[in-house]
Amino acid sequence: MKKDLISIANLKLREVEEIFNLTDKLKKDKTKFAKALCGKTLALVFQKPSNRTRVSFEVGMYQLGGYSIYLGPDEINLGVRESIKDVAKTLSRYVNVIVLRTFAHNNILEMAKYATVPVINGLSDFSHPCQALADIYTIKEKLKHLKGLTLAYVGDGNNVCNSLLYACAKVGMNMNVATPKGYEPEGKVINLFHKPEDAVKNADIIYTDVWASMGQEKEVAKRKKIFQNFQVNKKLVNLAKKNCLIMHCLPAHRGEEITDEIIESKNSVIFDQAENRMHVQKAILITLLR
Ligand code: CP
Ligand code: NVA
Repeated sequence: MKKDLISIANLKLREVEEIFNLTDKLKKDKTKFAKALCGKTLALVFQKPSNRTRVSFEVGMYQLGGYSIYLGPDEINLGVRESIKDVAKTLSRYVNVIVLRTFAHNNILEMAKYATVPVINGLSDFSHPCQALADIYTIKEKLKHLKGLTLAYVGDGNNVCNSLLYACAKVGMNMNVATPKGYEPEGKVINLFHKPEDAVKNADIIYTDVWASMGQEKEVAKRKKIFQNFQVNKKLVNLAKKNCLIMHCLPAHRGEEITDEIIESKNSVIFDQAENRMHVQKAILITLLR
């Protein structure tokens, strides 16, 4: 049976560990895997903009000897020019794996239902599992262990927050979430706060994301007001553990959800997260295609 990567909730801890072990090998020895996906093609079906997801998948596929085709919003026009079902069935005749970035999470489920090749969730309004896997890998790389660590997520209870909730639960990490009232995540949160100061106490990691996600552009002004006390700045970081890691999935709005000073600070691992997207996704591609 074909395997998909739709949500971290569907992965066993053992599978996450296997992805991380393979990622270690991929990072250490690039030449060994240069032909791992020779002759394989990836289709990137994107209904939203992207820098990291698109480039890390394309370059990753190239480094594994494979090929990728980017299909932006104008090409496929998913669900308008053609149904998701027909796109899934057609692409499955040409390519070996599909990454879908879309709005409604149901679109990912539908693509996976009708595709006969693996489907990877490249971000939906509900979740962003490739991001959270790369984030947890980065934490393990930096702090050498995961179990018992506390990650404080400050800001909007969005797709990234949901996937981090699944990921932290999977690997035995605690996750505190601080959001304004009405902006809580959909996922199950045990430690929910409405004051960022309460969430970051004793945190090993502080994580934030934009206040308005892709598709919420009309709410930008309203959200800037609602989230103004949720900025990750020096004052907030000083309340966490000394040497607390700073994380952000990017793109960031410097001066809004996080200050320049904190993005550039010595404990920021934000660009390591971005780099690890590629290494972890190479491991995901090999795992799904073998
Ligand atoms: N973090 C992330 O997914 O970035 P992009 O939107 O640029 O792909
Ligand atoms: N929450 C953000 C994440 C971008 C990677 C968004 O959906 O726009």
